[in-house]
Amino acid sequence: MNKKSYLRSTEWFGKDDKMGFVHRSWLRNQGHPDHLFRDKPVIGICNTWSDLTPCNAHLREFADIVKRGVYEAGGFPLEFPVMSLGETLMKPTTMLWRNLASMDVEETIRANPLDGIVLLTGCDKTTPSTLMGAASVNLPTIVVPGGPMLNGKFRGKDIGSGTATWQLSEGMKAGTVSREDLIEAESCMSRSAGHCMTMGTASSMASMVETLGLTLPGASAIPAVDSRKKVMAHLSGNRIVEMVKEDLSLSKILTRQAFENAIKVNSAIGGSTNFIIHLVAIAGRIGVDLVLDDFDKLGSGMPLLLNLMPSGKYLMEDFYYAGGLPVILDELRGHIHTGALTINGKTIGENCKDAPCYNRDVIANIEKPFKDSAGIAVLKGNLCENGAVIKPSAATYSLMQHKGRAVVFETIEDYHDRIDDPDLDIDKTCVMVLKGVGPVGYPGMPEVGNLDLPEKLVKEGVKDMVRISDGRMSGTAYGTVVLHISPESSIGGNLALVQNGDMIELDVKKRKLILHVSDKELKKRKENWKAPDPVADRGYVNLFINHVEQAEKGCDFDFLRGASGNKVMRDLH
Ligand code: FES
Repeated sequence: MNKKSYLRSTEWFGKDDKMGFVHRSWLRNQGHPDHLFRDKPVIGICNTWSDLTPCNAHLREFADIVKRGVYEAGGFPLEFPVMSLGETLMKPTTMLWRNLASMDVEETIRANPLDGIVLLTGCDKTTPSTLMGAASVNLPTIVVPGGPMLNGKFRGKDIGSGTATWQLSEGMKAGTVSREDLIEAESCMSRSAGHCMTMGTASSMASMVETLGLTLPGASAIPAVDSRKKVMAHLSGNRIVEMVKEDLSLSKILTRQAFENAIKVNSAIGGSTNFIIHLVAIAGRIGVDLVLDDFDKLGSGMPLLLNLMPSGKYLMEDFYYAGGLPVILDELRGHIHTGALTINGKTIGENCKDAPCYNRDVIANIEKPFKDSAGIAVLKGNLCENGAVIKPSAATYSLMQHKGRAVVFETIEDYHDRIDDPDLDIDKTCVMVLKGVGPVGYPGMPEVGNLDLPEKLVKEGVKDMVRISDGRMSGTAYGTVVLHISPESSIGGNLALVQNGDMIELDVKKRKLILHVSDKELKKRKENWKAPDPVADRGYVNLFINHVEQAEKGCDFDFLRGASGNKVMRDLH
């Protein structure tokens, strides 16, 4: 590999003029001697730490550990904060700010004297947002995933973040779980630092970056509080300095092959549907053309190898002890591009060669998978002309071919107002339809697609129904849930035209989602349809609704696709 002689940071620190003095002098107020940052790789540690993002609250300490590794390898670390997106506190939904956070990362990296980047990530959006930003600059970049929480433990049983929340909430509706049970379960579920420990979006994103080749091998599943996570952070600090010297920039790793690997692995681990939106957006920044059909074509033939909630019964801690992602990658050796390059300079195939598995009940053998088929099915039809998705491994088999009467909720508030009304005209064969939760309409496409079932049906023992919307679903959720319908209802997609009583047909095998209403009638309804008023007329939300793309394009802003590279526009004078 070529050794790089020129350092970008020299443009700041290497000049013996007035501005060189300015760049160095102010940095020296921290007590850094001159030799530390002259002619040394300067490593930016992009930290998504925030008290408002509980999943990332341990990353402040991790930044110090990465710094030790950078110093040890002869680099100079500079930590910087970026907008942090915490799923559990931000309203109305973190997805509204993923692109803003990515802009923060992109512009901060480009504007500063940085040669290499370490991304400290954890909670769902903190991984794709930082990676999108870094991809648009394209410096050598390594990801340190913050790691999952320890398994939840409640009254002798393992409970998983998110997944247990849905189960407990259903139990409340059915009358089998009390308020006291719920409060006790809160602390039992979240009992250590780290992100959700189910195969939700955060774990899917961590697995994604490892598969893309952007972490040290085996990094993603290590629990946040395991000392081996700190070792991994230290070694990542070592490695990024070498990557700068080797000029191993992101675009050399984020190739089409790497993205195809990520799609296959996400299927085999039962990863989140949110993965689709984020991967498409990341690919768009680095110039790889991914389309929705790639996810079905490449991913739906994969077997499910990982027995983790919400598709199975174990949790991320078990996954790590069973051998972690290298075992999955080795099992998929015949399916993935083993020659794809990773940040340690080796191929993904070399990194996972003969990875030992310590528990075959957690990670199945490819000859005897946990479930025969996994992945994400991409649906087409007059109800979703640009596509919709469903995760079959989290759905009920008998509902994957189903025709039922539509019960329509025009907004999420309308749903909450009426869902538990004993007079609501609904039975278990109906199809629940939610409008107004797409990227533009909500705005920000919240995770509400896995609508709770009506209380009266839950009490009758109904466990699942077909639910469709233009929104997303938490990666920890489950059910026969059709998501990401595009075009969304708020911009006039046919979803907007569905009325109570219409018949809707879902056929996952044939990849169809059909509204059984004639074209003539749809045309008439469309003529009478009125677009909802925009939700904001100023500020960032206004920018968002005017520029966000639809789900199949990754919900990035139209003006953010592509990259601007690492050159600064003008010098500081
Ligand atoms: Fe942060 Fe689930 S809430 S990862």
